[in-house]
Amino acid sequence: MSRPLLVTSALPYANGPLHLGHLAGAYLPADLFVRYQRLAGRDVVWVCGSDEHGAAIEIRARREGVTPQSIVDRYHAELKSAFDGFGIAFDTYGRTSSAMHRTTSQDLFRSIEAADGFVRKTTTQLYDPEAGLFLADRFVQGTCPVCGYPDAYGDQCENCGSTLSPDDLIEPRSALSGATPETRETTHWYLPLGDLQPQLEAWIGTRENWKPNVLGQVKSWFQAGLADRSMTRDLDWGIPVPPEVDGETEGKVLYVWFDAPIGYLSATKEWAEAEGDAELWRRYWQVHPDGTEPELVHFIGKDNIVFHCLTFPAILMTANAAQPTLPQFTLPTQVPANEFLNLEGRKLSTSRGWAVWAAEALDAFDADLLRYALAVGLPETKDADFTWSDFQNRVNGELADVVGNFANRALTFAARFCDGQVPALVDPTEADRAMLDALAAAPAAIGEAYTAYRLREAVALTVDLARKGNQYLQETEPWKTRKTDEQAMRNSVHVALQVTAGLSILLDPVVPGIAARLREMLALTGVRSSTGAGTDGLGWADAGTALLDTGHPIGEPGILVAKVEDEAVEAQRQLLADRSAAAEPSDLATETDEPAAPYTALSDEITFDQFTPLDLRVGRIVAADLHPKADKLLRFDVDLGFETRQILSGVREWFSPDELVGTQVVVVANLAPRTIRGLESNGMILFAEDRDGALKPVVPHGEPGAVVR
Ligand code: 2FM
Ligand code: ZN
Repeated sequence: MSRPLLVTSALPYANGPLHLGHLAGAYLPADLFVRYQRLAGRDVVWVCGSDEHGAAIEIRARREGVTPQSIVDRYHAELKSAFDGFGIAFDTYGRTSSAMHRTTSQDLFRSIEAADGFVRKTTTQLYDPEAGLFLADRFVQGTCPVCGYPDAYGDQCENCGSTLSPDDLIEPRSALSGATPETRETTHWYLPLGDLQPQLEAWIGTRENWKPNVLGQVKSWFQAGLADRSMTRDLDWGIPVPPEVDGETEGKVLYVWFDAPIGYLSATKEWAEAEGDAELWRRYWQVHPDGTEPELVHFIGKDNIVFHCLTFPAILMTANAAQPTLPQFTLPTQVPANEFLNLEGRKLSTSRGWAVWAAEALDAFDADLLRYALAVGLPETKDADFTWSDFQNRVNGELADVVGNFANRALTFAARFCDGQVPALVDPTEADRAMLDALAAAPAAIGEAYTAYRLREAVALTVDLARKGNQYLQETEPWKTRKTDEQAMRNSVHVALQVTAGLSILLDPVVPGIAARLREMLALTGVRSSTGAGTDGLGWADAGTALLDTGHPIGEPGILVAKVEDEAVEAQRQLLADRSAAAEPSDLATETDEPAAPYTALSDEITFDQFTPLDLRVGRIVAADLHPKADKLLRFDVDLGFETRQILSGVREWFSPDELVGTQVVVVANLAPRTIRGLESNGMILFAEDRDGALKPVVPHGEPGAVVR
């Protein structure tokens, strides 16, 4: 029996609309994954909700002269409806201003506090005497001590890029009122992450198959040394620190990053109540009396890694330690964090109007078309780019021309030449059997990609089955055999219809609407829902079998995927251009209280003489493929001008073989050869690793063979 599975998606802040970047980060990938799990009969619950607290919302409300509640009410409703429109099928969508959430967060805070799990520290902070508010670093402005720019922020100068603290600013002022900030003392409850680091490191060491971008970030935090992190704030808006705990609680609320992840727990409790069993949440959050441990999977964007891999686990560990005799919380099993989605080659920016709002896109296109284009280009291992022309090409060239065309051929042939019924398969040929074998193998192969969080691959494999279907029809040519060998034609139609029926299940996680339409055209009933619980009906594994009986009357064939016209995408490009031209960027609007990952610490100093033996050369990758026996390695042929070398690199997680062909790289050319799993590597290609774990080749100018020094 598999373990109960709880899936969470990052709670979006309820202070702005949903855009395609959000969808591609934490929601669509989770939706694909969960729909697959449901179809496969897994006991899974998926929770999300609006993140309604935090300084950014309070400050925005003050600037706009409205209440924070009115802001979150508006965006909570908008977010929920955009998710619905996209077919993002959470089991529950809560909100952190709910009573359940307040109680759950305060209870957890209280129990950690009672067991001395926090340390209280008094520090000085800047205070705006006019607004009556302590100022987050971003809300202090002043002159940059490095470049003299007069509007630098208390965390960074946007002009010269220097990282600053508010104390560094010359003539600091409040970004809210313009008043000169005062320094005041304030006391907060800190999570002692410094002390917890060994425990966290040991725990991370037990996690299996985490993505390199996630582990890379976590390791750089460890390397920098974890700092204690305050779990409370001086704000009006938020969940009050429980008044009965020791210390001055007046005017203090829980830090948004303390309460937000607890939102996963409170949403599960709300879901359990709605299911009619208020205790059911325990099944997904706590170790069962028989030792069964549920699986906890957090889908997030890369900016949330530190909170889900370190802070929230630390909160759960501390809560467990505070109540050792009670059932223990499970800790995250997987955090499949995604990288970012860029838009038309530029970084997404809501304040600069460079975003595609989900609601707007849904007005123009069917949700499935957007889902498909996003799913094939998810920023799984590195940032990805969404462009409207890609969208059009993917939809027209793959969804319509491959999937739609294949289904249409199978269905219209059956309608026109087989009396609208599934013809019998008699004496199948090699080609017929090979196609049915490919169908039989597909659910396991695609399912394996889903379970390993290789969602792009899962989608590609699904479309590949339709591609094979087209090739099969091309090969067996039922339009010819119809006149020469009618049974051969009937066999082709039989096989193609079975593949179409299988696809109507296998496509469901990605394009649920199209999959349902396909089932309707096939008159295929009894398929399990990908949005509900339970194991009744035909599920994932059944998709590989012959689902349609001989003689089964099919429904009415129709257009499965309508192509996207040029004018429709042109209109979207125009919309984007207009909005970005009209936007007045406000960096304050995007303040999110999230620290960037630390830079990797410098290595020990070396001497000039230690450096010079390295022979670095410009190379050009001329061919690339997968190492046949090592699943992390790519094999490259690199042109060094005077010779072409084979070099192996452990970068398969980040790059597909083709995409680096033609790229100039820096090669360590005098590295001794090494044989890895039967292939010799003659040198090393240099890659740059960002703070967030993304890898990029170091691209030099100059001709192949040129010396780099
Ligand atoms: O970055 C964000 O949008 C946060 N609101 C995510 C919160 S995730 C969770 F912990 F709730
Ligand atoms: Zn500056």
